[in-house]
Amino acid sequence: MLIRVDAVSKRFGGLQAVDAVSLSARSGQVTAVIGPNGAGKSTLLDCLSGLTPFDSGRIDIDGAMFTSIGRGDLLEAGITRTFQTVRLFDSLTVEEHVGLAHRSYLRCRRARELGTRRDTADACRGLLSQVGLLQKAAMRPSELSYGERRHLEIARGLATRPRLFLLDEPAAGSTYSEQARLATLIRAIADAGCAVILVEHHMDLVGQVSDGVVVLNFGRVIVTGTISDIRRNPEVISVYLGVAAQ
Ligand SMILES: Nc1ncnc2c1ncn2[C@@H]1O[C@H](COP(=O)(O)OP(=O)(O)OP(=O)(O)O)[C@@H](O)[C@H]1O
Ligand SMILES: [Mg+2]
Repeated sequence: MLIRVDAVSKRFGGLQAVDAVSLSARSGQVTAVIGPNGAGKSTLLDCLSGLTPFDSGRIDIDGAMFTSIGRGDLLEAGITRTFQTVRLFDSLTVEEHVGLAHRSYLRCRRARELGTRRDTADACRGLLSQVGLLQKAAMRPSELSYGERRHLEIARGLATRPRLFLLDEPAAGSTYSEQARLATLIRAIADAGCAVILVEHHMDLVGQVSDGVVVLNFGRVIVTGTISDIRRNPEVISVYLGVAAQ
């Protein structure tokens, strides 16, 4: 499957937060989107996930063209995401978060077309095991470490059987070992056939998991390439890596 983002733009008042961004993401691949604070990375994910309507441009998902994406389109299109700051409910257990997402997925047409098995408890156990939270299924988010909460958000997203998974700084606030687990998990998600767009500041994680990198600055794509192209690019070094590398 191929996702093409074609000249997507989003303006907030006088600020062009996303400026004619074009990129593509493929099933089986991790496409990293990097750039300094305020570059427009989260706004781009908001546009791709129906949270923010974009002003112009289009998104082609396997031949289906979208000039807008509504929240209601996500399950059918197979798009899911995590947020830069964790969004979980402390009234729900770990397992309930995943179960809720799985049950809403089961109600969509795509689930019927795929003939997904309807056993939510079984699906939850599989996903929690995949993200290393099976032993914590009955806990509340407040009882988890920050990195574990981020893994729970990923399990919740996986419960909707995504074709495109958008991750907004999943390693932020994680310990070194959580980050290592995250790298394995992100790679496994892509290897299972999902397209992943990864927004991330941790360049070591980007280097470990990404197949391609897109660099944004002031809302614009300044370079697209492999991690080694990016590391060598003088413009990237001056606007981003020069700062991040310290
Ligand atoms: N709802 C909004 N209203 C007005 N301006 C916004 C809004 N959301 C984002 N912005 C602005 O758009 C620009 C891009 O923000 P965005 O959050 O997309 O950047 P980012 O690349 O994700 O940054 P960071 O690395 O800090 O998360 C910033 O200047 C931000 O202040
Ligand atoms: Mg952001």
